[in-house]
Amino acid sequence: MLMDRPRTERSAVVAPPDDDKRWKIIDVTMRRNGYSGHALIETLHAVQSYFGYLEDRSLRYVAMSLQLPLSKVYGVATFYHLFTLKPQGEHTCVVCTGTACYIKGSRDLVAAIENRYGIKPGQTTADDALSVLSARCIGSCGVAPTVVLDGDVLGEQTPDGLIAEIEEVL
Ligand code: FES
Repeated sequence: MLMDRPRTERSAVVAPPDDDKRWKIIDVTMRRNGYSGHALIETLHAVQSYFGYLEDRSLRYVAMSLQLPLSKVYGVATFYHLFTLKPQGEHTCVVCTGTACYIKGSRDLVAAIENRYGIKPGQTTADDALSVLSARCIGSCGVAPTVVLDGDVLGEQTPDGLIAEIEEVL
């Protein structure tokens, strides 16, 4: 008997731009919405949260995955002020502030970054070396509190440990 292919299989057709683990999180967002065009804003928001900005290859990947014209994706990305097409800092640290991470101390991680570098989530250091972003649950609650530093998911972070990790990449 022939059966309809589940829509979730579309992710197997559209390959992400590279092997950065953050694309898996973006794909989860699209899959959760059945790869529907209605997921566009939520998906762009996820891309911006995890990568810091929306670059051309990200927009193309989202357009292909959601089967939307690239022009529409660019239209939405440039219409809303919360989206930016420009790269921010050279390094990006995303602090998860979802419930599990919040309970396990993500607030202390954000405070440690602010104390050390003088920037809050959504901001970039004056020398463009580091951008800090926050995100809701990134799906690694078991090792909360979690951050994503330049694409690497780091669990069970402490304020001092996180600053040491950031210093290593800077
Ligand atoms: S709440 Fe942070 S990974 Fe789930």
